[in-house]
Amino acid sequence: MTDFKKIISHAKEYGFVFPSSEIYDGLSAVYDYAQNGVALKKNIRDYWWKSMVQLHSNIVGIDAAIFMHPTTWKASGHVDAFNDPLIDNKDSKKRYRADVLVEDYCAKIETKIEKEVAKATKRFSESFDKEQFVATNPRVVGYQEKINTILKRLGQSLEKEDLADVKNLIEELGIACPESGSRNWTDVKQFNLMFGTKLGASADSAMDLYLRPETAQGIFVNFLNVQKTGRMKIPFGIAQTGKAFRNEIVARQFIFRMREFEQMEMQFFIPPGTQKEWYEQWKQTRLNWHLSLGMGEENYRFHDHEKLAHYADAAADIEFKFPFGFKELEGIHSRTDFDLSSHEEFSRKKLQYFDPERNENYVPYVVETSVGLDRMFLAVFSWALREETLEDGSSRTLLKLPAVLAPTKVAVLPLVKKDGLPELANEIVDNLKWEHATAYDEKDAVGRRYRRQDALGTPFCITVDHQSLEDKTVTLRDRDSMQQERVAIADLPKLLDEKFNIKHWLQKI
Ligand code: GAP
Repeated sequence: MTDFKKIISHAKEYGFVFPSSEIYDGLSAVYDYAQNGVALKKNIRDYWWKSMVQLHSNIVGIDAAIFMHPTTWKASGHVDAFNDPLIDNKDSKKRYRADVLVEDYCAKIETKIEKEVAKATKRFSESFDKEQFVATNPRVVGYQEKINTILKRLGQSLEKEDLADVKNLIEELGIACPESGSRNWTDVKQFNLMFGTKLGASADSAMDLYLRPETAQGIFVNFLNVQKTGRMKIPFGIAQTGKAFRNEIVARQFIFRMREFEQMEMQFFIPPGTQKEWYEQWKQTRLNWHLSLGMGEENYRFHDHEKLAHYADAAADIEFKFPFGFKELEGIHSRTDFDLSSHEEFSRKKLQYFDPERNENYVPYVVETSVGLDRMFLAVFSWALREETLEDGSSRTLLKLPAVLAPTKVAVLPLVKKDGLPELANEIVDNLKWEHATAYDEKDAVGRRYRRQDALGTPFCITVDHQSLEDKTVTLRDRDSMQQERVAIADLPKLLDEKFNIKHWLQKI
């Protein structure tokens, strides 16, 4: 996988992601999506929306406001419990998330496991059975046990709010400040991640508000509105995409952890007692959605939570292999009836459903799927970016985006800027642009234009040459194989539809 710095610079150089307000030196952990980035982001959002809402007759979408009544966050538990444990290094004055320091320590042990596996793969070549090796090699088993013991203790200490033990763990493991190398730590303290703001003009009547830290609550408070107006029968889901805000202590790794980001969430309302089955089912459905993009099964894994959020009775992450290791991409949470019951209590409004099959009223249970759109962007972008050495020894930068997500689907290139070729190329653009994002480029030699489209992730280039004027054919160049075939202009719409129709991708789920 490409070096992380290269990923960040490519995102900027090719108009995908810019640091926010860059002329003022940027704002930490806040980013702007540029002309190509916004298209990639929209395509990811659409791919999610179509798979969730369009393909499920029992899932509907909403778009709730970012501002919500402040009691929402009391009821949801965020005012009291949406905290991160933070620790300061007294020498460097740097602030860290205590749990992240411990997790990074474990990630280093995991790197050792990966090294052992790589060595053994080389040694045993074809006869190598990775699963058996990982399960039996004493060194690997030892490393894995160490990781498990550390994470278990961390999980238990956080669960019990035993922050003194989290500090003890950091000290026992000898974890040093990544900045200064010092082990001179303060105590661990809790820090609430919600951003506050005020609604209203005059100081005494202004109301304290929060910027929502998750989109989910906009769904919970609308549960009954949607159920009644949509005549929804349980089980059913409500989906939503939108901005969320968190005052992250450790905001780094580009768009992996941001202070303003976008979530794609779906709450699935179910009868009490059925949460286990639905939880397992949604875990699998969501993993399949990721796999449908063809970014390699080996790059995904589940991570079951030891430490559960205040609302969950089971939770797992779908982790993706980012350039800095396996990290959370999506969360699947069995949220019980925590949220609806709590909103009932705080609002004194009944949030119940009459189930005609059970002939009873109940507060539904909820299984939630929640994926960060920006994190999904980073997963796709970092997986796609690669340097390739070609047969002739030259190299090219390739952004091998899944074609269905590519910002520009096809670029039309007249071989030269004269002889009527630009006119014909523009005619083709005008015909294709109704269905597909189509670019026109006539600047520079055609080889350089191909390279530019490769770096932008454009799956196909259509080249219009002199033969095109005579027989109404063009060359269609495939980004990944660089193969070119001669095709009739009249066949282009059908050919491209086969490549980009979302059906071909989502049918695999
Ligand atoms: N409603 C449940 C919820 O918000 P979460 O695990 O805190 O759960 C869900 O967040 C997803 O949102 C994460 O898996 C991640 O993809 C994304 N996410 C969370 N915090 C983020 C941040 N600071 N920057 C970017 N994405 C974030």
